[in-house]
Amino acid sequence: MKKSVNSHCSLNIILICVAMTILLCSPIVACAQTVLTGNPPVPETNSVRGLKDYYKNFFPIGVSVSPASLAGAESDLIRKNFSSLSAENVMKSGLIHPQENSYAWDNADRIVDFAQQNGLLIRGHTLCWHKQTPTWLFKDQEGKPVTKEVLLARLKEHIQTVVSRYKGKIYAWDVVNEAIDDNDSVFLRGSDWYKIGGEEFIADAFKWAREADPKALLFYNDYNTESPAKRAKIFKLLKRLKEAGVPVDGIGLQGHWDLTTPTEKTLRESIEKFSSLGLQVQVTELDVSVYSPAEKDPSNHQFTTEREQRQMEQYKMIFRVLREYKKEITGVTFWNVSDRSSWLDNFPVRGRKNYPLLFDQQLHPKKAFWEVVKF
Ligand code: GLA
Repeated sequence: MKKSVNSHCSLNIILICVAMTILLCSPIVACAQTVLTGNPPVPETNSVRGLKDYYKNFFPIGVSVSPASLAGAESDLIRKNFSSLSAENVMKSGLIHPQENSYAWDNADRIVDFAQQNGLLIRGHTLCWHKQTPTWLFKDQEGKPVTKEVLLARLKEHIQTVVSRYKGKIYAWDVVNEAIDDNDSVFLRGSDWYKIGGEEFIADAFKWAREADPKALLFYNDYNTESPAKRAKIFKLLKRLKEAGVPVDGIGLQGHWDLTTPTEKTLRESIEKFSSLGLQVQVTELDVSVYSPAEKDPSNHQFTTEREQRQMEQYKMIFRVLREYKKEITGVTFWNVSDRSSWLDNFPVRGRKNYPLLFDQQLHPKKAFWEVVKF
């Protein structure tokens, strides 16, 4: 008897549980939830799919990180949403090679280790750039500019040491960054690399990187790649390199864009033009500033509904076009994880908050995120 009462109770409990499960999973519940609790239904922000999952048939989705972002809530967001990492700063020569005879590997190693532990690709950034260089690089012991021979030997040693260390772990390197001048009438940037090393520093950098890791893909990386005048100069450089047999595999469109740049037309033109050289195209540093270049007032820094809407439309257009060119586009990397912190908070206006990414300051997907994954 006791047994049958118990079985009866258990059956009732099971039936109640089943009924509750069905009820809780039903769309009616959303309304019921609103009525009962006064709260709107929870949007799909806790979706099990991350950005990378939506794009798995298109291209890897990357993000630039600092070692600090590899712990805590940001690291969960990274694991869920991204399939590739770039080091925001710690692989740049000033940080990884602070003295001529010493390298500082720890921070770069942490990023590489995290990527390997979590099955993420790694893009190396960057081997030769005119900024964030160490103070010793262009000078001799007396503080005078080094000769061309010395500078190129230093570049070779730097590239071969860094690339060899991560051989087989870093699948693509930004070898030369921003060698083209912004002034329409000047071809190559008048950096110390160019002034001392001559134009050949570019071709040499690619050859040395290829020698150090023959399997790594080698990229030339630059910004304003959708501006027709600058694009023409970058194209000229890359065509020259290809014709000379220099091992360049791809172009990195940095993708520091805003509400009006690029247009759909200029973005398409860039992808088509660069890929016509047989180059892979990657977007390497994507963010969409919510300010136009003309806006300079630091007190006008709200993420208004209008800015949110325009940013959403811009992201939607960008990803629609990128998806369309999935044969040409082999990677898309965001520059920074979320709106909590972006280099654009201090550029071009110091201290003006920007909101350029797909995740907000609470690390939640923004409206733009949902447009980017809606296809
Ligand atoms: C350039 C560099 C990046 C980064 C951004 C701004 O685009 O390639 O490494 O420094 O500027 O932060």
